[in-house]
Amino acid sequence: MDYFEINGLKKLNGIINVSGAKNAVLPLMAAAILNKGSLKISNVPQLSDSITMSRLLEEMGGKVKFNSDNSISLDTSELNKPFAPYDLVKTMRASFYVLGPLIARFGEAKVSLPGGCAWGPRPVDFHLSGLEALGVKISIENGYVVANGKNLIGSEIHFPKISVGATGNVLMAAIVAKGTTTINNAASEPEIQQLCEILNQMGANISGIGSNTLVIEGVDNLDLVSNVSVIPDRIEAGTFLIAAAASGEEVEVVNIIPTHLDSVIDCLKEANINVIIKKNSIIIKSSKNDILPTNIETSEYPGFPTDLQAQWMALMCLAKGTSTIKENIYFDRFTHIMELNRLGCNIKLEDSVAIIEGDKSLVGADVMSTDIRASAALIIAALSAKGVTKISRVYHIDRGYDKIEEKLTTIGAEIFRKK
Ligand code: EPZ
Repeated sequence: MDYFEINGLKKLNGIINVSGAKNAVLPLMAAAILNKGSLKISNVPQLSDSITMSRLLEEMGGKVKFNSDNSISLDTSELNKPFAPYDLVKTMRASFYVLGPLIARFGEAKVSLPGGCAWGPRPVDFHLSGLEALGVKISIENGYVVANGKNLIGSEIHFPKISVGATGNVLMAAIVAKGTTTINNAASEPEIQQLCEILNQMGANISGIGSNTLVIEGVDNLDLVSNVSVIPDRIEAGTFLIAAAASGEEVEVVNIIPTHLDSVIDCLKEANINVIIKKNSIIIKSSKNDILPTNIETSEYPGFPTDLQAQWMALMCLAKGTSTIKENIYFDRFTHIMELNRLGCNIKLEDSVAIIEGDKSLVGADVMSTDIRASAALIIAALSAKGVTKISRVYHIDRGYDKIEEKLTTIGAEIFRKK
């Protein structure tokens, strides 16, 4: 298994590029099920998750080709098998996104329940109750969701908690339901906003995009869309901003949409990091001697993203004082604490609140990735640690970051992928 070897304390300087958003391309690939023809999706990150989703579409009879220009060409005109097998869904929870579009197109679907993940259960009850509200008959058989919904009826839906996946899944069924569907407590993440925009380009009628209330007027037919470009990955961008704050002198993170990172920018400024915002990039000027502690909480968009919680924790180990992070989305998303402490951090957990003692001089050690974002946190900490750090199980990071070691090397990091 590949591992990363990082030689820390190198100052980071220069320009680092951001790829298309993993959490945007996956629902867009699922939405291609509704686009009964060819679709070219550009600015696709080269990730194992994108490959997993393409395998799933091919399993159903779709055609997928990865092009050399970071685009993929999809054709689902001959897709004829509304079935998502366990061996694919278990490797990537986002495979569950195909449920809604399969029901919309075929009136039926059989999709494996997704597994949990490193930090605990990841239920799909909101997805199922939302689809049932549209008239879908759902049963669970041998670990599979068996769904039947030939005549979907619009409905008033209220999610108990904001859910990105459930919003996307129910949305992709509701667009062909008869009548009006209102989704209250809907997700407003930029990735969901892009999904709504593309579905509207396909002829759907969705309003309230960007708010937490989506109103969908069902349509009988959808048009064909031929080209889509994926929005930049705000989580990859935030990861690089935090890495620059921890180890940078001057780093510009380019090809991004700065407004998608408002909450992160606010926290960086609160930590006394010099942030310069430009049209499609952000510059971080930092000397790690004067990082201030912060007390933050994760929340749904536009709040501080849970997907940057681990990375922020690594930065706070370097702050001049004690910080706290309250995790409100996944109460147990803290598997990175033990690994960060191996690098010399001193982080304790009390009731889903991490207490981070700052002013640490980190020292390289052997550590292990446990999930995508925990891996990113370990890289950030290792870049700020004295000596060599070895991060094992980097297959986790390859799920969510496109050639991260090459990108970090361009700004002066000494990070090597080894077998
Ligand atoms: C999406 O996951 C992202 N994944 C996650 O990013 C991200 O952490 C998460 O949204 C929150 O922003 C993709 O977009 C592919 P949720 P998703 O449904 O849709 C609970 C990464 O690192 N819930 O918004 O699965 C759930 O347990 C990944 O890129 C239910 O209880 O997350 C959680 O507490 C990790 N029942 C909360 O809602 C449900 O039916 C939010 O989960 C669904 C969710």
